[in-house]
Amino acid sequence: MKKVCIVGASGKLGGYMLQHALHRGYEVVGVCRERSVGKLDAFKDHITIVPGATNDREVIKKAVAGCDGVLTVLVPWGRQQYATGTAQSVLDHARPGARLIFSCGWHITRDGQDVYPGGLKWQEGLTRWIGRFTGLVDIDDQIEACRRVFASDTLWTVVRGSDLEEGESQGLPVWSRHVGDPILESNLTRRVDFALFMVAALENDELIHEAPAIVGCQTPSALAHAP
Ligand SMILES: NC(=O)c1ccc[n+]([C@@H]2O[C@H](COP(=O)([O-])OP(=O)(O)OC[C@H]3O[C@@H](n4cnc5c(N)ncnc54)[C@H](OP(=O)(O)O)[C@@H]3O)[C@@H](O)[C@H]2O)c1
Repeated sequence: MKKVCIVGASGKLGGYMLQHALHRGYEVVGVCRERSVGKLDAFKDHITIVPGATNDREVIKKAVAGCDGVLTVLVPWGRQQYATGTAQSVLDHARPGARLIFSCGWHITRDGQDVYPGGLKWQEGLTRWIGRFTGLVDIDDQIEACRRVFASDTLWTVVRGSDLEEGESQGLPVWSRHVGDPILESNLTRRVDFALFMVAALENDELIHEAPAIVGCQTPSALAHAP
């Protein structure tokens, strides 16, 4: 892995992924909305920035050219199929054989075998309702984006994040195939470690065609149930 693209580099998760990717010595291309380029000032001497909407196919085509891996933040903002457009552009334009890592939350299910805590389903329903009412968020867009990724024959991994918190790294999160597995019960991950898992997945072939649900490695459920 030499060159990677981070789609959604200006957000919180994107910033941490940038740090981890540079730390590993990768050449990094970052994509973010034009208005957010200033958020990348601290990195501008070390990365190539491609400004533009992440669902703009030409922007993504340019950004992922020659990349061995693409880390994509799937954001459910707005009502214009932003996440779906982002995912489809990455699937279509990344070079064959590139590792593609996408971020989302636990609410995404790959095979319908996840068993969700009651509060999480309630939260999803509320977000869907608020989204329809305000036009600010579209949870079904992220679901469709992931459906397309799951159906793709590219070398994808969909990393499903638990609730997040800020704080220093505790190390690589642990994961399981299904929400509801006891190891995930604590439902908390440091955002910096979510990013660490995304970047580490680039070189972990065991995660190809997996949708790991993650949790912090120092949480009580991880400590109690780690293999
Ligand atoms: N927050 C959570 O608790 C949580 C939990 C589990 C999983 N996740 C997953 O983690 C990932 C990122 O989450 P995060 O909380 O850390 O957020 P984040 O990294 O801060 O990401 C927000 C991203 O959304 C972009 N964005 C904001 N408003 C937008 C708009 N109106 N149109 C298009 N893009 C917009 C931001 O770009 P700009 O810099 O240009 O604004 C940024 O790239 C997502 O895949 C999410 O599903 C989050």
